[in-house]
Amino acid sequence: MDVSAIIMAAGEGTRMKSNHAKVSHKILGKPMICWVVDAAHAAGCDRIVVVIGSHADEVRALLDSAYAGSDVTIECVEQTERLGTAHAVRVALDATGIAAGPVVVLNGDLPLISPNTIRSFAQTVATGEQAAAVLTMTPTNPFGYGRIELDADGSVARIVEQKDCTPEQDANLLECNAGCYAFDGAQLAAHISEVTCDNAQSEYYLPDMIEILKSAGQSVSIFHCDDYREGLGVNSRAQLAELTAIARDRINARLMAEGVTFIDPAQAWIGPDATIGRDTIVWPQTHLIGHCSVGEECQLGPNTRLTDTRVGNGCVVDETVAIEAVLENNVDCGPRAYLRPGTHMLDGSKAGTHVEIKKSTIGEGSKVPHLSYIGDTTMGAGVNIGAGSITCNYDGKNKHATTIGDRTFIGSDTMMVAPVNIGSDAITGAGGTITKDVPDGALAIERTQQRIVEGYTERKRARL
Ligand code: UD1
Ligand code: CA
Repeated sequence: MDVSAIIMAAGEGTRMKSNHAKVSHKILGKPMICWVVDAAHAAGCDRIVVVIGSHADEVRALLDSAYAGSDVTIECVEQTERLGTAHAVRVALDATGIAAGPVVVLNGDLPLISPNTIRSFAQTVATGEQAAAVLTMTPTNPFGYGRIELDADGSVARIVEQKDCTPEQDANLLECNAGCYAFDGAQLAAHISEVTCDNAQSEYYLPDMIEILKSAGQSVSIFHCDDYREGLGVNSRAQLAELTAIARDRINARLMAEGVTFIDPAQAWIGPDATIGRDTIVWPQTHLIGHCSVGEECQLGPNTRLTDTRVGNGCVVDETVAIEAVLENNVDCGPRAYLRPGTHMLDGSKAGTHVEIKKSTIGEGSKVPHLSYIGDTTMGAGVNIGAGSITCNYDGKNKHATTIGDRTFIGSDTMMVAPVNIGSDAITGAGGTITKDVPDGALAIERTQQRIVEGYTERKRARL
């Protein structure tokens, strides 16, 4: 079954009071539009068309960077004038030539819709017997949603927007349009131009297609979504927060079912593209953003934020910020470690307290325990970096590399002025500024002689 998806993301999003496109706002670190695109893709939609308009460049750039190198292809269609949802679909049909097969139309502000719902929903029009189906729900608060009005025979008659409702309709029609539709492409293309803008908002409403198709003698059905939370839309910051909490609970519940412990599941924000292995313990204030994977038997947090980071098994990641880093197995980080892009911590290595590491490999069992900066460095196995040691990798213009061999001991407060190579089994004396290469097995000491001034304190006190 070749299913096309049209995702409408051109609206102004006025109620967000934002300088950015509504669909660019993130839920658990992922832009709203990507939740919808991913759901459509996972549901098996072969063709994904996104209608952009307001902040078009921002949304196009966001989609480009989110899906570069992935197997998801997106066609962006620009709706230069925003005349309503039916107009958005019409622009998409005109630009793409879609005029047959099942077409799923999704609001771009519908982030929690599941692939399963879209899939079973698309099936309803696949046989050609039905011209359209609308996903409906009964939210606890129906405010703002289009309401389903039924015919005497119990089938859907029309959808009435809240702003066009009579007070009776507003009070009594509690079944709402979720903003997810399946159409037979031929019927959609044949009738979309019949939608008018004779309503409270003077907009072309896509939900009007239901009544239009019915009066054309077509069969149209409603598809009730038992879990209304899947169908909630985001129009305001309050709804953004509400959906973030729902998404968080849903993800954490799944992870707990898979064997992950949460000290407090309400205080951990795990993104939809993260995986966590069994017996890992997630402490409060842990955030996993983007494509993170965490193995088994780890401890995450408290106060840890990982972005696009891979963590192996048996790691302790306490009060750590890591971005595009890789931690192999049994790595120990924090409290207060900052691992920047390109950090690769090999098995059993450690990045301790107030330690910053960038674009460096920390070898097996090597330790950077306290107050250090390591950048552009390749470090062997079994190295110990003394407290306060720093790789001076930047000369004000260029970045330079440092290499450190195996089993080397860097004394506390060593400044390694790059480019510099320190061999294996070497030692640097505490407080040294190392500007020349250190051969294997050597001691490098760079320090002025200590002077002793006897009786100094007594004489100084006598002067005061
Ligand atoms: C819409 C539905 C409503 C439904 C609700 C579900 C209409 C007229 N109403 O209302 O029945 O209950 O969604 O959440 O469709 N958009 C465009 N171009 C436009 C206008 C809108 O692309 O010209 C996009 C928006 O970016 C948004 C989506 O369409 O992603 C829905 O628009 P929005 O204004 O949020 O509609 P609602 O008032 O929420
Ligand atoms: Ca909406």
